[in-house]
Amino acid sequence: MIISGKELSAKLKLEMADEVKTFPAKYGRVPHLVVILVGEDPGSVSYVTGKAKASAEVGIRNTTIRKPESVTEAELLDIIAALNLDDEVDGILVQLPLPKHIDEDKVIAAIDKSKDVDGFHPLNVAALWQKQPCTLPCTPKGILKMLRAAGVEIAGKRAVVIGRSNIVGLPVSKLLLDANATVTMAHSRTRDLAEVTRGAEILVVAIGRPKFVTADMVSEGTVVIDVGVNRDPETGKLCGDVDFAAIEPKASVITPVPGGVGPMTICCLMENTIECFLNSR
Ligand code: GUN
Repeated sequence: MIISGKELSAKLKLEMADEVKTFPAKYGRVPHLVVILVGEDPGSVSYVTGKAKASAEVGIRNTTIRKPESVTEAELLDIIAALNLDDEVDGILVQLPLPKHIDEDKVIAAIDKSKDVDGFHPLNVAALWQKQPCTLPCTPKGILKMLRAAGVEIAGKRAVVIGRSNIVGLPVSKLLLDANATVTMAHSRTRDLAEVTRGAEILVVAIGRPKFVTADMVSEGTVVIDVGVNRDPETGKLCGDVDFAAIEPKASVITPVPGGVGPMTICCLMENTIECFLNSR
């Protein structure tokens, strides 16, 4: 079975749009998401455009602030400070990565926790790891939604996560652990990686290398979640971290790239924006 994140997110966005329509009468306005984009990186520009498009579909107000690559850290921190104080702003997202002269951790920590729609603020991260209420990071949240929608049983399963980033690998491992999976966190330095991944019943791949996971690394019946967004060096087309054509016949469930995890990430960003809006009513 191929799980279409595109279809699932379309359905969830329609449900959110119905909910958001009721907000002006109840609260006097709709939620407002502000996205800050620094520089012209084509990948980042495309993500930010996708976020604006999804906001329009759901009925969320979206402001995108574009700054040149040369913006200073101080200027960025000033913009965030003003947005933190603005009662008409519910969510603040700084598109990553930032240019090298800007301290990413400092910028993320400057966002008011209650407006941190990415769930990247240290207080949100701490809350996640202490099982306290928090804003969940969008990609891990979207992955869990896909697994549930596909009827995948997580409790008791052997889950292997490849990649240990703050954005995906670490938080998705924690969410799988909270769902009672037995989680192995693998990465580029894992010895005998194929041996480890062959033991997986659920395999989440977020390592950022085109077609890194090959058919021999996956056992029959595995649930495969591909978080990668890469250019295939041979065809120039978008591809995942998983060799989809070779693994799809072996997997019980698999996500495609594009149209898999990506749309779910954006969908969860919409959900987080609504949550932040409602939490401050
Ligand atoms: N860059 C890649 N993924 C993300 C994300 O989920 N949020 C932000 N802010 N930047 C990203």
